[in-house]
Amino acid sequence: MPDFISFSPSDLSVAELHKYLLSAVAPRPIALASTIDLQGCVNLSPFSFFNVFSSNPPVVVFSPARRSRDSTTKHTYQNVLEVKEVVINIVNYAIVEQTSLSSTEYGKGVNEFDKAGFTMLTSDLVSPPRVAQSPVSMECKVDDIIVLGKEGGAGHLIIAQVVRMHIDEQYLDREGQLDTTKLDLVGRMGGHWYTRVTKDALFEIPKPLSAKGIGIDSLPEHIRNSPILTGNELARLGNLKELPKLRKPTNSKMNPDQLHREAQKLIRENKSLEALELLLSKV
Ligand SMILES: Cc1cc2nc3c(=O)[nH]c(=O)nc-3n(C[C@H](O)[C@H](O)[C@H](O)COP(=O)(O)O)c2cc1C
Repeated sequence: MPDFISFSPSDLSVAELHKYLLSAVAPRPIALASTIDLQGCVNLSPFSFFNVFSSNPPVVVFSPARRSRDSTTKHTYQNVLEVKEVVINIVNYAIVEQTSLSSTEYGKGVNEFDKAGFTMLTSDLVSPPRVAQSPVSMECKVDDIIVLGKEGGAGHLIIAQVVRMHIDEQYLDREGQLDTTKLDLVGRMGGHWYTRVTKDALFEIPKPLSAKGIGIDSLPEHIRNSPILTGNELARLGNLKELPKLRKPTNSKMNPDQLHREAQKLIRENKSLEALELLLSKV
């Protein structure tokens, strides 16, 4: 078992807790949120406390928090209280530096589209403009704003319904779907770290929807407690539909370590069934 440090949130200062939370809950997608106040002043700011929570209805949420240092609220929050509309623009690598620049705390009324060099495009159904350089923009109506606290660091959960989407065609594949390998999305990590979704960072885990995997607990003990196979590799075996009945003859020269290493090789070549058959041949 690893050694853990354990604590309750109240044991730490808000700043200390914030650091742990942001490093642990990562990578986070980034919403570049465009809002407008009653006077028509446009605001643009990034928020990584952001996600999609529902497809039907299509709902996204994000959270401009009270500043830890002085508990003041952000223009984005003030704007959505006045005009309950927002455009969420998705951030990829091509616009990440401009996005960071747009997070600068300019005074009320300063349009960060101009400061960060973004182009405003008129939205179809809402008053805040969208970002021309963003691969995907979602025009949203704000359904609800949940105040999560009154002190510094407290979030304001903005729940918004998507009413119109815009996708830059260059990011579509031949089937008209968004191509993850082209999008080049970025995520926010803890500290000053970001992550970039390049092709070599991507991997697939096919999930069988029709059949249930047997589970790691159904594997015989000598496999489950393998000193060689990792949790990921055991999970590949646990994802198989059934324990194979067929048992191949054992290569008698293989000791248990060699057998598990050979099985590991097969799993890494996407031959999980063969790996399990091999492991079961030695009881
Ligand atoms: C990538 C990135 C993500 C951010 N995420 C958040 C966030 O989720 N919540 C938040 O309150 N501030 C976040 N910030 C900081 C705000 O963008 C910053 O406070 C900004 O000045 C708020 O602008 P506003 O007052 O015009 O709304 C983030 C900054 C960056 C660069």
